Amino acid sequence: MSDIQTLERETLSAISSAADEAALEAARVAALGKKGSISELLKTLGGMTPDERKANGPLFNGLRDRVTTAIAERKAALSEAALNARLSNEKVDVTLPPRPESDGTIHPVSQVLDEIAAIFADLGFAVAEGPDVEYDDYNFTKLNIPPDHPAREMHDTFYIAKQADGSRHVLRTHTSPVQVRTMLKQKPPIRVIVPGRTYRVDSDATHSPMFHQLEALVIDEKTHLGNLKWVVEEFCKAFFEIENVTLRARPSFFPFTEPSVEWDMRCDRSVPGKIAFGTGNDWLELGGSGMVHPNVLEMCGIDSKKYQGFAFGFGLDRMAMLKYGAPDIRSFFESDVRWLRHFGFAALDLPTLDGGLSR
Ligand code: PHE
Repeated sequence: MSDIQTLERETLSAISSAADEAALEAARVAALGKKGSISELLKTLGGMTPDERKANGPLFNGLRDRVTTAIAERKAALSEAALNARLSNEKVDVTLPPRPESDGTIHPVSQVLDEIAAIFADLGFAVAEGPDVEYDDYNFTKLNIPPDHPAREMHDTFYIAKQADGSRHVLRTHTSPVQVRTMLKQKPPIRVIVPGRTYRVDSDATHSPMFHQLEALVIDEKTHLGNLKWVVEEFCKAFFEIENVTLRARPSFFPFTEPSVEWDMRCDRSVPGKIAFGTGNDWLELGGSGMVHPNVLEMCGIDSKKYQGFAFGFGLDRMAMLKYGAPDIRSFFESDVRWLRHFGFAALDLPTLDGGLSR
């Protein structure tokens, strides 16, 4: 019997001293592998008399079980140790100051996007998104602009090659198709903003073929133009960081809103090269808006007798240009590193309403 005890002692010591998984595996094979010491021992049971087998069976099997358990425990201990070693190796001290040489900056458009998301989150709006390459159906038709309707000419559209089924994709000309996407998948009440890229065949000092819009959509049972105006006003106050906001409403036309209103905000451009908000006799164009057209609601599966809502779509780059004093929209997207350093924001200064939007 002492042979078996010696075998057990040696095997268990090989297991407990295995320094890594490979050593442990070697110890396992030496004991329990096909030609392992314990396997060989178990094989001898076959040649024993029934009495011998009765006596030795439990001993051999008990040995095998204890060795198996020891291997599993050692394996768990090794992998925990490996994990702990990795955790302490890869530890990052987040309290260390950033490396002085990291001079990447946040692009003003990204900054403005973060500011706007913070403002509207405070007003209870979620952020919705949609793809840049959009169905013609969502960009136009479900927004009450049927095929061949003259209102399509309002947008100089980048069309994408026809699909096999004859339908066309477009680069979305506005963020309004995300109104459609939101209404198709969400029941009212709806309150979302959609900041995103939009595309039109257009390029000069104030137009870039790729630009950004800020869409907002509210659908509920009792909404009216007054609510729309309040939201625009609150947004302008927070965004331009001024108390006195004077808005001017101009009647307008969009196929997907009725009535439609364009908004301007009072500002002062009397000092050349400067713009001040909240005072003066000039007007800053914000963009279009209106009460969502009942046709749009119905096409998006919303009962227009029970629900109505409002939407707006403002030019985001222009707001960034004005707020941060960049004169030419094209420079926004040229990736000139000198421009980015000048107009960019520190990466760790996240805009919050209580911490200040743009310090
Ligand atoms: N989508 C319109 C545009 O791009 C703006 C708009 C949005 C108008 C929502 C009304 C309501 O010009």
